[in-house]
Amino acid sequence: MTNITIITGGSEGFGRELAEHFAQDKHNLLLVARRFDLLENAKRELEGKYDVKIFIFSTDLTTPEGRAALKEYCDENRFHIDILVNNAGMGTGGAFHEIPSEKETSMIRLNVEAVNDLIHLFLPKMIEEKQGVIMNAASAASFQPGPYMAAYYACKAYILSLTEALIAENKKTGVRICCYCPGPCATPFLKKAGTDTLFDPARNSGMRPPKIIIDRVYKEFKRGKKIIIPEKKFAFLRFIQRFVPRSLLLAVMVKVNTVKK
Ligand SMILES: NC(=O)c1ccc[n+]([C@@H]2O[C@H](COP(=O)([O-])OP(=O)(O)OC[C@H]3O[C@@H](n4cnc5c(N)ncnc54)[C@H](OP(=O)(O)O)[C@@H]3O)[C@@H](O)[C@H]2O)c1
Repeated sequence: MTNITIITGGSEGFGRELAEHFAQDKHNLLLVARRFDLLENAKRELEGKYDVKIFIFSTDLTTPEGRAALKEYCDENRFHIDILVNNAGMGTGGAFHEIPSEKETSMIRLNVEAVNDLIHLFLPKMIEEKQGVIMNAASAASFQPGPYMAAYYACKAYILSLTEALIAENKKTGVRICCYCPGPCATPFLKKAGTDTLFDPARNSGMRPPKIIIDRVYKEFKRGKKIIIPEKKFAFLRFIQRFVPRSLLLAVMVKVNTVKK
């Protein structure tokens, strides 16, 4: 049996940065994404730097078949899954009625359905063995509704809610559940979501590079934090929401996510 940390979306962006930390800490990795060339690059770079095994698996996590194939690959190779990082995700932006429905359905399949399903596939064994870790990519978008990225924010609210519930359910199972909640960050994500040109540039001013965000996430992860908010301004945002009426919050969010005309 080989001990493995799975990182979905481990080929670029936050997942690639997380791979760096886990590999440095001597975790063998299974990186999962669709584009094989990016996975191969990551494997070569990480194996060149660290004394760990890097496995790569190309699959589309939006499909049940793609997720089942991942589980099958793990079973065939007799991998023992220590940590599952549900990081792969995508975004959509713009007025809800103008976004193609298929694009959002695909996003919901990746951001919600795949996370839910992968937890179903890997958590039971972890509970049986009374060990293991599941870390999910939530977002600062998890904290409130987000006009003009409505379905994306709703996906991330689901992830935070699911994580908090599973933390409570797994208090005594020996399995650790946690999530990280970054704010907007200049990974390839924003370009793919189209939000780099959609919103007023001021919205994303002061964005930290992904390395800085993930350095903080990993530090807090190692400290045992459950809900990791790597930037103080978003931790503050979450705190003050207890005292702010929802209607006011929504008015602010419309301004924050104002679409350029
Ligand atoms: N960047 C931000 O502003 C931000 C802020 C808060 C939270 N987050 C969350 O953080 C997570 C990572 O975001 P990121 O910024 O690192 O994104 P990213 O740079 O776009 O990377 C996404 C990763 O997921 C993989 N992926 C995408 N679709 C997939 C699919 N259908 N099946 C399998 N793998 C797939 C991509 O590889 P392939 O395309 O080759 O499949 C890539 O490795 C996401 O859950 C995102 O929602 C991002």
